[in-house]
Amino acid sequence: MSAGPTNPTLVDLIDAQPRGNCLSRAFYCEPTFFELDMERIFRRRWLLVDHASRVPHRGDYFVVDVAGESIVITRDERDEISALFNVCRHRGSRICLENEGHASRLTCPYHSWTYGLDGRLIAARQMPESFRKEHFGLRRCRVEVVEGLIFINMSEHAALDFGHVRSAIEPFLRLHGIAGAKIAARESFRTQANWKLVLENFLECYHCLPTHPEYCAVNSIVKLIGDGSERASAEYLAYWDRWKAAAAESSLASVVASSAMPGGSFDPRNPYSIAQASLRDGRANSTVYAAMRTPINEGFLSMTEDGRPVAPLMGQFTKFDGGKTSVSVDYVGRMTAANDYAALFRFVPVAPEITDFEIIWLVRQDAVAEKDYSVDRLKWLWHVTTAQDKVLAENNQRGVRSGMYAPGPYSLLEDGPSRFTHWYLEQIDPRIENGARS
Ligand code: FES
Ligand SMILES: [Fe+2]
Repeated sequence: MSAGPTNPTLVDLIDAQPRGNCLSRAFYCEPTFFELDMERIFRRRWLLVDHASRVPHRGDYFVVDVAGESIVITRDERDEISALFNVCRHRGSRICLENEGHASRLTCPYHSWTYGLDGRLIAARQMPESFRKEHFGLRRCRVEVVEGLIFINMSEHAALDFGHVRSAIEPFLRLHGIAGAKIAARESFRTQANWKLVLENFLECYHCLPTHPEYCAVNSIVKLIGDGSERASAEYLAYWDRWKAAAAESSLASVVASSAMPGGSFDPRNPYSIAQASLRDGRANSTVYAAMRTPINEGFLSMTEDGRPVAPLMGQFTKFDGGKTSVSVDYVGRMTAANDYAALFRFVPVAPEITDFEIIWLVRQDAVAEKDYSVDRLKWLWHVTTAQDKVLAENNQRGVRSGMYAPGPYSLLEDGPSRFTHWYLEQIDPRIENGARS
């Protein structure tokens, strides 16, 4: 980006950005910002890519395309999950051309260099004697599997310890038996909007009352908080207390108690703030994550249209407790789980004004489709809500593109996007590198 009064620098734009407001037009529309987002966020942060049950057997693989890179996720010969850049070390061809498959070796379609599932180069024909195969393995991408959730990180930076994230979210994932789950359905919603607009929409429920009758019918919090009156707030708090007391009687007490994570800010009067509770080590580039449990609607056992369960109980639950758990890592990897199913959410930027929002539904591994669960009932809430959100985000993008657009102030119920945009500006600020302002 070049300097000049008609072409402000990135720093000018960041400094001119009114805090507590949504972002200026350039951040949502300009290709240069899209490229910056890819470099500073998607090629640096931990990205949730899928569930391990997508590669149940040695030799299974699938390909993830994100931020201009293609990454092959394999279950290798040692039964471990590897993440390999899909770029041949000979002359750079893509190696895996299918989205998923099964193979004992990865063979490049160009000159047949052949790699093991862990990326080792096994065979390369007619190379000079000085050629050392061990120097030409596929480039590896950092990968962490937490209770079945596969996270990757494309960065080569050393300071990317995942241990504290793992130890914070593991108990919640274990509670829900996510490691023992299987993928029951997946759906991708191509949305004609910048990834930040799609994400901001997901992070707030200010829009829920006017636009999501189904979601509001399932989640009482939304109606009571959206109401804004003292009576509604008191009603919500009373319900929250009843639910917590009931849950505390069960063996799940410890997990419920940790729903306000150490270091996180938990304000029961503003339940949306819980979603943003996170542990941070104070550096701008530290991983942002959260995990929390909250009640569904009173009388609802699961996040379904009628509140009845849709699938067999998962994990450590011995009965339905009317709660749901939300987990998020670096904003773009998220999970929400009832006692009988979980939904993973991914935000995948495709172009400045195109985002794929993917949902992956999980149920217990031994559950049988249309016997133990109905796929339509399972998908109902997030399918209907996301179809509405797609329209909202696309309308938002169209308006932001106008020359008349100016960033407006977030409401009291938009703490989520407000925190996100603050974090976002830190990520792209060239004066903040490795968390230090220079
Ligand atoms: S580019 Fe892969 S073998 Fe030549
Ligand atoms: Fe929504």
